[in-house]
Amino acid sequence: MIKKCLFPAAGYGTRFLPATKSMPKEMMPVVNKPLIEYGVEEAINAGMDGMCIVTGRGKHSLMDHFDKNYELEHQISGTNKEELLEDVRELIDSAHFTYIRQREMKGLGHAILTGRELVGDEPFAVVLADDLCVNEEQGVLAQMVALYKQFRCSIVAVEEVPDNETHKYGVISGEMIKDDLYRVDNMVEKPEPGTAPSNLAIIGRYILTPDIFELIEQTEPGKGGEIQITDALLKQAQSGCVLAYKFKGKRFDCGSVEGYIEATNHCYENIYLKDKKSSELAKKVTGKK
Ligand code: G1P
Repeated sequence: MIKKCLFPAAGYGTRFLPATKSMPKEMMPVVNKPLIEYGVEEAINAGMDGMCIVTGRGKHSLMDHFDKNYELEHQISGTNKEELLEDVRELIDSAHFTYIRQREMKGLGHAILTGRELVGDEPFAVVLADDLCVNEEQGVLAQMVALYKQFRCSIVAVEEVPDNETHKYGVISGEMIKDDLYRVDNMVEKPEPGTAPSNLAIIGRYILTPDIFELIEQTEPGKGGEIQITDALLKQAQSGCVLAYKFKGKRFDCGSVEGYIEATNHCYENIYLKDKKSSELAKKVTGKK
């Protein structure tokens, strides 16, 4: 039902300089996988197969990552290194990747509007890859798709943050319509300290209905002089319906050094080591070397 996922990935990643001086922030590895690969996996697990990536200058390695590397693959063919590429190969085969370049950085709303050509006239998901989300049972996007099936309107994922952090996020307020689900009546992009409508902060997962594109077109630059998706979503909430969903799982802000280190530790212990143990066990059972 929701087949496409948009990845705004043109930003400079200034919070992570100098690491991101010549490398896209989406390619920063968390353990042994680049950040964007976690996002693509989450989208595939939610049933999507169209990955629409909004890139910018200096982001070639993103495209290379989701493509074949004949020389490397030839070099390691027949060795035990091959299995290290298994996951990404499978992922490349189960989705198609399209790209568009955002020439100017005019905010998240503008990045999403740039992706319109790739998305077309259908509901779609948005993943901000530097928010890494994990949940053992059902991924955050899959949880949101299930809600979309029921409510058929735009949905933003939210989490409670301490009062002294609301100024870093888009913040919503709304009426709770059932457990963990709110009908949005206000949303403010990066409110000044002490003025936030609540402490429910939007994190980098959205499901958007395609009428959002027209609304973005009508949106004037807002916070920081940028075209904000939060402002376009507020219009959608006022003229129709936008839901905010307090998701199940953990989210790491990998755009900050602290969040990135936490994500690395978490993924090492809970994903990497577990996978390693289960593949060693599988080898013991099958006798495979
Ligand atoms: C963007 C959005 C903001 C949201 C945040 C989540 O801000 O504009 O509403 O809360 O992502 O990560 P950014 O972090 O790109 O400044």
